[in-house]
Amino acid sequence: MSEVRSPQVKRAILGAEVAAGFGPGKVILLGEHGVVYGEPALAAPLRVGVQAVARAAERCSVVCPRDLSPVHRRALEEAFARAALLTGAPKVQVSLKSDLPVSMGLGSSAALSVAVARALIAAAPPRPGRKASELEVALAMEKVFHGTPSGVDHATSACGNPVLFKQGKVKPLVAKRPIDVVVVLLGDRPSTKDTVRGLRERQARWPDRYRRLFREIGHVAREGAEAVTSGELESLGDLMNLNQGLLCALQLSSDRIDAMTRELRAMGALGAKLTGAGGDGGAVIGLFEDAAGAVRTLSKNGVNCFASRLAG
Ligand code: PMV
Repeated sequence: MSEVRSPQVKRAILGAEVAAGFGPGKVILLGEHGVVYGEPALAAPLRVGVQAVARAAERCSVVCPRDLSPVHRRALEEAFARAALLTGAPKVQVSLKSDLPVSMGLGSSAALSVAVARALIAAAPPRPGRKASELEVALAMEKVFHGTPSGVDHATSACGNPVLFKQGKVKPLVAKRPIDVVVVLLGDRPSTKDTVRGLRERQARWPDRYRRLFREIGHVAREGAEAVTSGELESLGDLMNLNQGLLCALQLSSDRIDAMTRELRAMGALGAKLTGAGGDGGAVIGLFEDAAGAVRTLSKNGVNCFASRLAG
């Protein structure tokens, strides 16, 4: 007689995989920081990201990656506790695997949040009442990592498409032409929390002049969304260059970042800018017709980079 196992029996076997979830990283093509002040941002998911695997266990817990600093470990444990609370703390141990560079402006904490939210929701046993959505669980985690995130990172990761994001609302976009970028990793940078806080202090002191710049960043992001849907890549690249100028005006760029944007443009990038919170370091993106060719040239010169197709 063949053995028949109900899902409950399978769940009881400790160590058995019961659910998994993937969260892709993201790049902000246009509109970082303005989005914190209610303006739209244009963002798109990367192909790389974080995978969360949930295995049956005595209680709900997360395995912290060994190379995490004590600060990041505490943040992960607190964020996971919030996600567990919202999903009814299913009896699983969640382990994480990432091929996304951390703290580079590529949305690694949002990718992790989406992956964990997906795995815990899928592992949660049926229970009465309203269930928290993937976005709610991921946002609760992001708040631990970032303080007051705009939400663009985890919304883009969860959506899996290029999006125009504004004040919690996500508009998925259909790109008319493939969008290929080179992502250059410059190295460590200040935390998003600190960079956002520094800008908030300047903005609070001189609100009118900063409001004007945020508004302009919002216009650039809206025009960028039109360029994506109409396939006007040259226009999108020009908007990226303008956005880099606005980020410089906000004192969020650095000599290293500026030099890399110039190098990418000299190599034929249609546009280049920092992506994410900025500061000194992090990631710079360049929009290319032939991103793979650009990566070959840059790699020969010792630049740490990869190509990613964001749409199409
Ligand atoms: O550097 P990242 O990937 O954390 O990007 C943050 C984007 C900001 O607009 C600077 C902050 C936010 O909450 O949107």
